Amino acid sequence: ISLKPFNTFGIEEKTNFFIEVNDNETLTKIFKKGLFKENFFILGAGSNVLFTKPFNGYIIRITSKGITAKIESEEVYVSAKAGEVWNDFVWYCIEHNYAGIENMALIPGTVGASPVQNIGAYGTELMDVFYACEAFDTLSGTFKTFKKEDCNFSYRDSIFKTAHKGRFIITEVTYKLSLTPKINTSYGAIATQLIKENITQPSIADIATIVSKIRVEKLPDPSTVGNAGSFFKNPVIPANDFERLLTLYPTIPHYPMQDQQTKLAAGWLIEQCGWKGKEYGQAGVWKHQALVLINRQNASGQEIYKLSVQIIEDVKNKFGIVLEREVNLL
Ligand code: FAD
Ligand code: EPU
Repeated sequence: ISLKPFNTFGIEEKTNFFIEVNDNETLTKIFKKGLFKENFFILGAGSNVLFTKPFNGYIIRITSKGITAKIESEEVYVSAKAGEVWNDFVWYCIEHNYAGIENMALIPGTVGASPVQNIGAYGTELMDVFYACEAFDTLSGTFKTFKKEDCNFSYRDSIFKTAHKGRFIITEVTYKLSLTPKINTSYGAIATQLIKENITQPSIADIATIVSKIRVEKLPDPSTVGNAGSFFKNPVIPANDFERLLTLYPTIPHYPMQDQQTKLAAGWLIEQCGWKGKEYGQAGVWKHQALVLINRQNASGQEIYKLSVQIIEDVKNKFGIVLEREVNLL
């Protein structure tokens, strides 16, 4: 079975088995058949994966749907099944005036994947609104609830990417949203666009619309140019190392973090190495955002992987910083 329609890079690789799961009973059945003892991989919308070889095992794609909400005075606990499309869920919440995730409009992918790398954009991270999730334990065959404190969330990271990598299948996520919006325009580009459009009292729908506009300008649309968003994470380095870089590169973009750490813009580092807009066989680096690797037409996963190795090498040689991949390699 071809995986090409199931990954936003549009990579042509095959899998021996492909199962779509849209309810919890099916997971229990699969467990009883012993399939979780075989090689398997949980797939949502495939917008953060790079297939580099044929998959020898079971690809299990989560497609369950459904949204429920429980209002408690000014708060609302909204639960969505893992297979819901994230951006559709964002707009469902906006239409119901459930505030808190409007800054994350137009992030591709599913609800079920949202806690895995603690998705984030334009001033909000999933951990700011995450309440709990239900997950199926492929080792024991039982369901478990993870509260926020169980998930070890940090920048682009969670327990589902580290200690529990590949073990739990998230079936439902509950977000704690608000009926009284706190509009977040902390991200510079949002504020600039609001002024441009002469909007002084933005609604949550305005924020989502503006974020969507900014995103479309910077990021390639996977339906025409294969990609998985940022290929690397922005590096977080100790303040001392940063001071040294700042003297060498006074214009280096940077953002202060907790614990004397500084976050750098990987896109800038890659651009400085001359990679922005460059082609590499059938692969390439996006002309408007150097952090995004693209499939120009018929790239193999290997080709994109090799390009990422080259970039890591160049950034390391120039800046002494080792970029880490955000995309899940398979
Ligand atoms: P997949 O790619 O299918 O899977 C990703 C990982 O999650 C895999 O390890 C998979 O095993 C695991 N997984 C998926 N579903 C489940 C489940 N139900 N239970 C357990 N594990 C699961 N990300 C951001 O954070 N911010 C952005 O601004 C952003 N912009 C993007 C822009 C573009 C154009 C693209 C293509 C991607 C972007 N991304 C961004 C990355 C991507 O949207 C997110 O990582 C998203 O959460 C992936 O969802 P998915 O359903 O496609 O997951
Ligand atoms: N920059 C460059 N050249 C480039 C790209 C960026 O110089 O080619 C510099 C600019 O100075 C710019 C800064 O980097 O001001 C930051 O760029 P941008 O605002 O585009 O954000 P980013 O840091 O590149 C991160 C996330 C995105 C998220 C945006 C908006 C990571 C790895 N990426 O990108 O998430 O949408 O911020 O919040 O944290 C993703 O994870 O897939 C993703 C797209």
